[in-house]
Amino acid sequence: MSVLNDIKAKARAKKRRVVLSEGTEPRMIKATRILLEENITAVTLLGEEKEITRLAKENSLDLSNVEVINPVHSPDFDKYVADFMELRKKKGITEKQAHDLMVNPLYFGAMMVRHNKADASVAGSVNTTGDVLRAAIHVLGLKPGIKTVSSCFMMTLPKFMEVENKIFFYGDCAVVPNPDPDELASIAVSTAQTMKNLIGDEPRVAMLSFSTKGSASHKDVDKVLEALAILKRDHPELKVDGEFQLDAAVIPKIGAKKAPGSEIAGNANVLIFPDLDAGNIGYKLTERFAGAIATGPIIQGLGKPANDLSRGCSAEDIVDVAAIAVLLKD
Ligand SMILES: CC(C)(COP(=O)(O)OP(=O)(O)OC[C@H]1O[C@@H](n2cnc3c(N)ncnc32)[C@H](O)[C@@H]1OP(=O)(O)O)[C@@H](O)C(=O)NCCC(=O)NCCS
Repeated sequence: MSVLNDIKAKARAKKRRVVLSEGTEPRMIKATRILLEENITAVTLLGEEKEITRLAKENSLDLSNVEVINPVHSPDFDKYVADFMELRKKKGITEKQAHDLMVNPLYFGAMMVRHNKADASVAGSVNTTGDVLRAAIHVLGLKPGIKTVSSCFMMTLPKFMEVENKIFFYGDCAVVPNPDPDELASIAVSTAQTMKNLIGDEPRVAMLSFSTKGSASHKDVDKVLEALAILKRDHPELKVDGEFQLDAAVIPKIGAKKAPGSEIAGNANVLIFPDLDAGNIGYKLTERFAGAIATGPIIQGLGKPANDLSRGCSAEDIVDVAAIAVLLKD
């Protein structure tokens, strides 16, 4: 698909490195082979060296251009344990706890990203989303000014309003169940930034609701309006407006009628849903009913990039996510 090819080309040009924390998973080995063959990014595989060597042989992966690290044999291990103890000091972590967590490649991989030894970490082919995100949150923290880690999907519609392969970014569809206004504002900022990083388009952000510009009054509408006020105050550079029903956000005629004078109405390319029910249902409706390709969840808002995978992912999915993750580095 051409948009993913463009993303891979961008990643290639940036010459970055991804750390794949689940290095003893055969799909990670296959993905590494593709990432190197297509020259998309350099790769570090974490795990037991002998097992990685065995799997590499089995899958025709030449390890001479791959960095293989077993966390417990790494010269950086003790430094990472000490750094992690400092990070989690307030939580009263002991040295033994920090040591035991750093043996876990999810934590070690995130620590490599924190110390600029890699540009992004990718995991989740065998670990749960909760485990992947918790390690990333604890090690990488949040981006300055951002209140929550969240996610977005890049949705590619085969055709929309006469445009082929029309791309929208949807946030949040996978992480924050019921964002408060500050968190909703952060989801909007992060999703707009993700769009810029990945496809370079100028984001036009619509804050979605069941109301358009005061057509209904309800506390749920007030939440969206509060988030909009925060965005206008803290991010005057961001093109954002609301509250909009979906059609007013993306159909020019309806936008012009229901929100005259808005530069976003009818013209939005970033859609921010008021909560996770709406976001998750919304992306699946678009995927299933409109035949859109849903790329994600793309994790955003972390201090540095780390991305989760679905446990049913293929090697090709890992390649796509790795290309996306390395591009999310500022
Ligand atoms: C991170 C997550 C994946 C799992 O977290 P968890 O371990 O169950 O949640 P906890 O509340 O115990 O949080 C663990 C830590 O992460 C932090 N955290 C959790 N969610 C966070 C978020 N969205 N942004 C920033 N920090 C977050 C917590 O503050 C906590 O930090 P602490 O240990 O320093 O106090 C959580 O975001 C989540 O469960 N989201 C819903 C995901 C989901 O179910 N998706 C399904 C639809 S696809």
